[in-house]
Amino acid sequence: MAKIVAGIGCSHVLAIGDAIDLGKTEDEYWKGLFDGFKRSKELMSELKPDIIIEVFNDHGSAMPLQYIPTFSLGVASEFKPADEGWGARRVPIVKGDPEFAWHLAEALILDEFDMTIINEMDVDHGLTVPLSLMFGQTREWPCPVIPVCVNVLTYPVPTGKRCFALGRAIRKAVEAYEKDLRVVILGTGGMSHQVHGERCGLINSDWDKKFLDRLTTNPQELAEIPLLEYVRETGAEGIETVMWLIMRGALNDDVEEAYRFYHVPASNTAVGNIILINS
Ligand code: DHB
Ligand code: FE
Repeated sequence: MAKIVAGIGCSHVLAIGDAIDLGKTEDEYWKGLFDGFKRSKELMSELKPDIIIEVFNDHGSAMPLQYIPTFSLGVASEFKPADEGWGARRVPIVKGDPEFAWHLAEALILDEFDMTIINEMDVDHGLTVPLSLMFGQTREWPCPVIPVCVNVLTYPVPTGKRCFALGRAIRKAVEAYEKDLRVVILGTGGMSHQVHGERCGLINSDWDKKFLDRLTTNPQELAEIPLLEYVRETGAEGIETVMWLIMRGALNDDVEEAYRFYHVPASNTAVGNIILINS
């Protein structure tokens, strides 16, 4: 039986990808951030996932505004890095696992989560930057990745409660898969940031840190927070953080917090990373 062994929350700032790709990780501006992710990489090599389910959002790179699926699932055998305007990141192609992904699609849809099925998609920084942060620069990603894409760009976005329930359903679907696989679920995006308009540059470290506390110890209560609170407290783009609740919903009620890191700023955003072990 497949089993979810850990959940990870991780920001996905575009400029972090540039800093890695352009060799700037030791620069004064970036060093503190990348030092914080050294322990994350060690923990990932201890966790040795056979497969990753990565919950992320596309930023208009693959999904045109003509179609806005709320929840979707990538069933392709590979996903190429997207060109976000200045050429694709030179990171490995993301390999999928069509057999496992189709199992998830079937299990989730029959469990009344109507996932849109994606047969082809290029993946942007929302998916590739967290992989770089967790695994570093590598010729190949260490395992297949199943993309779960969430609309957090265009109103209306799914509630925290619905995201948490999707996590629960993903867990059930994983445990119904007959192969013995160690699955890690990764929730990306956030934390507080707004990159346009009057409140551009908004960071709310107090709220972010409280979010991390509650994510570990009281996720059911966290899932009840209205979307407006995310926007008010963490900025319009800070609402991406709601995707971490999909990750958390897929874990046990009690988890061990193996690592937490929080850093400000990275290109006008607050960066968070948390590693929760499904003990
Ligand atoms: C940036 C990246 C994001 O993914 C986002 O949601 C907002 C800002 C950035 O790199 O500045
Ligand atoms: Fe984003």
